[in-house]
Amino acid sequence: MTFTATRKPDPLPGPRHVAIIMDGNGRWATQRGRARLFGHHAGAKRVRQIVRACPDLDVKYLTIFAFSTENWKRTQTEVAGLMSLFRRYITREAHALLKEGVRVRFIGDRIKLDEKLVSLMDELELLTADNSKVHLTIALNYGGRDEVARATKRLAREVKAGRVDPESVDAETLARFLDTYFLPDPDLVIRTSGEARISNFLLWQSAYAEYEFIDTLWPDFNREIFADIVAAYARRERRFGTVPT
Ligand code: FPP
Repeated sequence: MTFTATRKPDPLPGPRHVAIIMDGNGRWATQRGRARLFGHHAGAKRVRQIVRACPDLDVKYLTIFAFSTENWKRTQTEVAGLMSLFRRYITREAHALLKEGVRVRFIGDRIKLDEKLVSLMDELELLTADNSKVHLTIALNYGGRDEVARATKRLAREVKAGRVDPESVDAETLARFLDTYFLPDPDLVIRTSGEARISNFLLWQSAYAEYEFIDTLWPDFNREIFADIVAAYARRERRFGTVPT
């Protein structure tokens, strides 16, 4: 008897953790003859939509780059507008995020952020602490090198206090001191707007991530594009430095 296999092979798993560099808000606004902040507001609407798309796409962790340690160099108007947008986003979205099972956490250095924003961030983290459907991490005043430097400082203090033996320090030890200690490494990093750079985002954590650079400007990004990228990822073969078996 001959046996014909008709069953298709199981699809490879999709990305569990997706990180996004949301770029192109400024250009999107300029193309419409509007101020850059108009683009950031449109970008915030996309954040809502993309967070909501995660459960259907089996994306358990979503990490987004909202403000980098370099973004302070923008005009005072743009920086103040972005800070006010973050405060507004947290205030307005808190209830929906709670109801939708989203746990929100922030990474980055809070020291330069204004007190009001930091207390809203703390409250949102606390409010959503029991959620686990989607883990949304927002990078605010975040830079990969800055994060590694801050982690090293914390680790050095532990060594100085005699709580960590310097001979025992390895990559896993340092990872425990990073802002992202609670997150798995990203499987996939997406950057919108046609720039093929990682701009200091999750430098340590992305060692084995797949990258997807797409031309779409962030305010035009949507759930269909997101779903396509996630499906394309599942077709790739990840080797983590090994050879195919
Ligand atoms: C990069 O576009 C975008 C940012 C620096 C800000 C990202 C912020 C948002 C999407 C707003 C909403 C976020 C939250 C969490 C509510 P750009 O200004 O560099 O664009 P350009 O390269 O076209 O100038």
